Amino acid sequence: MTSNTSTDPADSKTPAPLQDALARPLHDLRVSLLDQCNFRCPYCMPEAEFHADYEFLRREQRLHYDEILKVVRVATQLGVCKIRLTGGEPLLDKNITTLIAGISELPGVEDLALTTNGMLLGPMAHGLAEAGLHRITISLDSTDRDVFEHMSGGRGDLDTVLAGIDAAERAGLSPIKINAVVQRGVNDHSVMDLLDHFRGSGHIVRLIEFMDVGNRNGWRMDQVVPSRQLLERVKKRWPLRRADRNYPGEVARRYEYVDGQGEIGFISSVTEPFCGGCSRARLSADGVLYTCLFGTQGTDLRESLRHDVHDDELKDILSRIWLQRADRYSELRSPQLAEAHVQRKVEMYRIGG
Ligand code: GTP
Ligand code: 5AD
Ligand code: SF4
Ligand code: SF4
Repeated sequence: MTSNTSTDPADSKTPAPLQDALARPLHDLRVSLLDQCNFRCPYCMPEAEFHADYEFLRREQRLHYDEILKVVRVATQLGVCKIRLTGGEPLLDKNITTLIAGISELPGVEDLALTTNGMLLGPMAHGLAEAGLHRITISLDSTDRDVFEHMSGGRGDLDTVLAGIDAAERAGLSPIKINAVVQRGVNDHSVMDLLDHFRGSGHIVRLIEFMDVGNRNGWRMDQVVPSRQLLERVKKRWPLRRADRNYPGEVARRYEYVDGQGEIGFISSVTEPFCGGCSRARLSADGVLYTCLFGTQGTDLRESLRHDVHDDELKDILSRIWLQRADRYSELRSPQLAEAHVQRKVEMYRIGG
């Protein structure tokens, strides 16, 4: 650990780790590649609004790969070691392996993951792994065909997604995580079947509390199933034991099945917020950097990138943003505040969860 009080001249060259106003380091950068998606999950991109005429970002509005690589390179110099590629649906970007290869070669990138709905994964899994992707997370809210059909906005095919998960396993993109957002009255009744499906597979299902992200999912507190309730339900069928955190600031609380059939996780951002350990920055496809999933404004980096900003200058910009950061939306959230939608927040499909 570097000490700021060291008198060793060799140490004086090592910069103190960058910390925000609440003493949180910068560890993760989540990069959204595009705002389009082949699903229309009602809680994220409801069909009524995201119809054929909806104007998504145009190619020239999105960051180019060399611009993304520059941000990632500079971010690693400030402490980022974990990169997650997201969307929308990142696998709609057919050249994604080129970007993955570029990022995986950057010094300091220890963990390179991707979040996908899995629909296009099957034929792409092998190439993603070969390009240097380490692991994959699949958003899958239910293995019940009707529920899945509804939750993907009628666009998904369950067998195709399951085949995609198998292909990712064969390609070595593990540990594979399955993220399921649980919404009361929508898919909470199918959670046990989802867990049963993946028990013993080596894949880790994580049950996520439905959050008030964005402005259009009609969020209400009574749609949230608190993790505590789910935990009790699961424990009654399969005894669980608590597992240690994998790393500081991990969003999921980990449990293992006592019978050795694997691991599950609970992500409880509503009932047990984890802002205290939040070390994540998010870059939208059009180059806006957000320091909170519930951000109402970010910092546009695209103009600077298009004007060929020098690495040192970009490093200063990013440092300044992080040093000033004091976000802790989930800790401050009150149901009344969230339901009132007092300010316009960034949409999930723009920064990818
Ligand atoms: P691992 O690296 O695999 O541990 O996961 P991760 O930390 O990258 O988390 P992931 O992207 O899989 O996030 C899963 C879900 O947790 C997201 O879809 C969000 O619903 C929620 N989540 C992740 N990060 C945050 C965060 O910073 N704040 C809040 N409120 N929720 C988050
Ligand atoms: N609450 C919790 N998680 C959400 N996601 C999207 N919307 C929400 C929400 N309201 C998660 C899903 C999605 C990922 C990108 O973010 O897992 O697939
Ligand atoms: Fe697409 Fe994920 Fe949003 Fe569903 S939640 S519409 S899969 S980005
Ligand atoms: Fe981080 Fe904002 Fe989520 Fe809190 S609400 S954990 S600060 S992204």
